[in-house]
Amino acid sequence: MSAAGKCFRLDGAEIPFRDGQGVLEAALDAGRYIPHLCFEPGLPPHDSCRLCTVMVGGRAAAACSLPAAEGLDVVSDSPELGDARRQLLQLLFSEGNHICPGCERSGDCKLQASAYAAGMQDNHFPQLFPVRERDASHPDVLLDRDRCILCELCVRGSRLLDGKDVFAIARRGIASQLVVNSPSGLLGDSALAVTDHAVRLCPVGALLPKRPAALVPLGKRSYAQESIATVELRRHAARKPGQP
Ligand code: SF4
Ligand code: FES
Repeated sequence: MSAAGKCFRLDGAEIPFRDGQGVLEAALDAGRYIPHLCFEPGLPPHDSCRLCTVMVGGRAAAACSLPAAEGLDVVSDSPELGDARRQLLQLLFSEGNHICPGCERSGDCKLQASAYAAGMQDNHFPQLFPVRERDASHPDVLLDRDRCILCELCVRGSRLLDGKDVFAIARRGIASQLVVNSPSGLLGDSALAVTDHAVRLCPVGALLPKRPAALVPLGKRSYAQESIATVELRRHAARKPGQP
């Protein structure tokens, strides 16, 4: 234990942590960015994107769900992990229809920004071109399932932050897809509001507020001029403790 309290090591730096924290959340609190897509402070980890993979004692682990503990020696910044994260991102891009230049979320999309940060140049893997049902029935929110990366942030956010339980994931494997809990199965028939955390938390262009999409021009959006690490660390530091 250091003078500051309990610590673990991340890429050689001492990172303090509170009991019950995971490695990723403690790292963010300490101003150290570990790439991630399906984690949000204040929500239980989901362990699905694996972008937060780090090495601990020669083994790979997801930093979002790895409990912080004294004596851990964690590596996040290495050429091998950079390659692995790039491949994970290429898989995510090839599994969906992520046509960034034509997407309203371009410049505000964590998947796109993570790919830039990882130096991804192409999708590498064969494109699957999924055809899943699009839902434009809600007056203020569009659901494009072909851009969904199944991170379940909207599922957890709706249930735990909005108290609504609007979303769920149905089916398995490659057939998995987001479904809406409403009598008709349509978003317009659900309790979702455009101001819900569930909409805000979507890291890609799958849940899109309809009208604000073009208000901020390309080039002026969140990740257009700064890296995702810089933007996300600043946002994290501005959060009040316990605030989602
Ligand atoms: Fe994640 Fe967005 Fe898909 Fe919900 S709609 S599971 S937040 S990518
Ligand atoms: Fe850890 Fe997605 S952020 S698995």
